Amino acid sequence: MSLTRSAIEPLRFREALGHYASGITVITSHVDGEPIGFTCQSFYSVSMSPPLVSFSVKRSSYSYPRIRQAGRFAVNILSGEQVGISDQFARQGEDKWRGVEWQESPLGNPIIADSLHWLDCEIHAEHAAGDHLIVIGEVKALNPRDIAATQPLLYFKGQYCNLTARSAA
Ligand SMILES: Cc1cc2nc3c(=O)[nH]c(=O)nc-3n(C[C@H](O)[C@H](O)[C@H](O)COP(=O)(O)O)c2cc1C
Repeated sequence: MSLTRSAIEPLRFREALGHYASGITVITSHVDGEPIGFTCQSFYSVSMSPPLVSFSVKRSSYSYPRIRQAGRFAVNILSGEQVGISDQFARQGEDKWRGVEWQESPLGNPIIADSLHWLDCEIHAEHAAGDHLIVIGEVKALNPRDIAATQPLLYFKGQYCNLTARSAA
């Protein structure tokens, strides 16, 4: 017996993708003295040698053209305590950095305080893909510290969750 194939309806497509649990990152950069960033779930690893990672970004993104201009970005992997940071950087506008503590990475990208981990990247390639762009970065530096006791921020079926909450449920 085969499963039936029908046209892919956007809402059902989104719902299906929601079943894939992931961490959450904020992709940041710095250009013309201004920090830039947006919340990004589509981060993944690509290659070990050379070390490559990737994310996809909406063509309508305000931040990405400026990240492209800088030619570099940091991946801030969020901890379970950073739901507010994820929400703040998912909004389009000027106030994304209000109240956010950060310092510069070796490449000059903003590293958000208390992130679980970070990777510092140079843009290696960019590919058009439907209404998104796939961006590939070559990793040039990493957080030298491992905060093993901290939980990651997770996203599943359109909601934030963390490992502790899920294992206790
Ligand atoms: C949990 C979560 C995950 C997201 N993942 C992505 C993503 O992978 N790619 C993307 O382009 N936008 C993603 N977004 C949406 C952007 O964060 C949002 O559109 C933001 O306003 C973009 O900012 P910008 O226009 O300054 O680039 C995500 C939002 C949330 C809440």
